Amino acid sequence: MQFDMNELTSIERYKLINSTITPRPIAWVTTLSADGVRNAAPYSFFNAVGAEEPMVVLGLLKDPRTGGMKNTATNIVETGEFVVNMVCEDDVEIMNMTSIDAPSELDELTYANIETIPSIHIKPERIASSPVSFECRCLKSLDIGTKQTIIIGEVLMAHIKDEFILDKKKLYLDTPAMKLIGRVHGSGWYARTSDLFKIDRVPPYKE
Ligand SMILES: Cc1cc2nc3c(=O)[nH]c(=O)nc-3n(C[C@H](O)[C@H](O)[C@H](O)COP(=O)(O)O)c2cc1C
Repeated sequence: MQFDMNELTSIERYKLINSTITPRPIAWVTTLSADGVRNAAPYSFFNAVGAEEPMVVLGLLKDPRTGGMKNTATNIVETGEFVVNMVCEDDVEIMNMTSIDAPSELDELTYANIETIPSIHIKPERIASSPVSFECRCLKSLDIGTKQTIIIGEVLMAHIKDEFILDKKKLYLDTPAMKLIGRVHGSGWYARTSDLFKIDRVPPYKE
């Protein structure tokens, strides 16, 4: 069966994309508004898109209530700063709590009782329980016409909990021990990263 995106409604397009491009990592994004209000929200239209410079991308859809930008998008566009906190199994409920559609005046970190730690290069704080957090500066925000905002961010600083560093010199990390989760199909489904397998990389091509 084929689906011509032009013939679908926006919710139908969302369903197809959301249920097939999986699993997706989740960026639990912390920001500050221009007025200094703290915000947290999860975004799974997220990935790493570069290493030199280290870069991440976020896809922020329009706010279904207002048709305008979500608070995270407004804050990043206005302040140019955000933290991506990776989500572990223990944090899934509290992460979910911060997906609440709340007014911009609400401090969502206080609301969800989330402990934070000051960042080094930027003003928004990082989430203390997160195994890995990235302080990011917005390099580009693309408003692509329908109030979908794409943010390209440069990673300025990575915070990785000491317990996950296996070899500091070689930068071997115990990623499975971080128990990071991903977003999968439908509404409310998640994947653990505990069912792994390994294959060796193929050698270079030879005539
Ligand atoms: C696991 C998860 C992933 C989500 N991913 C996205 C996403 O990629 N893009 C988006 O616009 N909304 C996403 N949402 C919904 C936002 O988190 C939600 O609209 C939130 O209220 C936005 O908050 P803000 O206005 O404070 O930024 C996701 C929600 C959950 C629970």
